[in-house]
Amino acid sequence: MSKRKLPLHVAFIMDGNGRWAKRRGLPRVKGHVEGVKSVERVIDFAKKVGIPYLTFYAFSTENWKRPKEEVQFLMELLREYLKEKLPIFLRDDIRVSFVGRRDRIPRETIEWMEKVERETAKCSSIWVFVAVDYGGRDEIVRGINKILKEGLKKVDENTFRSFLDFPPEVPDPDLLIRTAGERRISNFLLWYLAYTELYFTDTLWPDFDEREFEKALEDYAKRVRKFGGLPPDEEENS
Ligand code: FPP
Repeated sequence: MSKRKLPLHVAFIMDGNGRWAKRRGLPRVKGHVEGVKSVERVIDFAKKVGIPYLTFYAFSTENWKRPKEEVQFLMELLREYLKEKLPIFLRDDIRVSFVGRRDRIPRETIEWMEKVERETAKCSSIWVFVAVDYGGRDEIVRGINKILKEGLKKVDENTFRSFLDFPPEVPDPDLLIRTAGERRISNFLLWYLAYTELYFTDTLWPDFDEREFEKALEDYAKRVRKFGGLPPDEEENS
């Protein structure tokens, strides 16, 4: 791979697990199990090409509306995944953190989330965020309540950002990838997506592999980012 422009932070809306399973006549939850394999492929690939931050939308504040069995399955899947993968995260120097609410997740799942956060805190080859019971609006309102609790009367953008879930040193996502044909943000990372490049693919999340990721990165490399200004070549001539 040559010296093309790589994103520092890629976020994923992992859509289409249910459809993947349905097409095969399997229960929806099998799609989630298969989806975990895509998460692993993506982490390995990002580490290989040198992308330092990844964020995965695993469970939204709205996903509680799904059937009780599916919610329970997802919470158990996350716990089992963390249990199984902790030694691999440590071996491969992968730091894992979580964003989202922590007051509604089942105790055993939250215990594993916090254990993995603690134990991988010194890992530094890649930093993976998993959004669980996460909603962009919920994060902003929680942030505002923290500000009110501290008694602040006025904040600027940087101060406000420091009350949100992502540590301040984590850059906003450069690229958001959503699979399975939907073209929405679905309450994900609202504050941070201000200048994020969006990439949509019809591929279902369990089918999202290294080739698909590579295609998204190629597309990203061609984008001209202006952040409200002029493209770099026009700036020089103006
Ligand atoms: C969306 O597909 C997927 C989810 C709501 C869950 C994603 C969770 C995982 C891949 C597993 C846990 C994650 C980690 C990081 C271990 P959908 O069910 O909405 O699919 P559909 O739109 O086809 O029904």
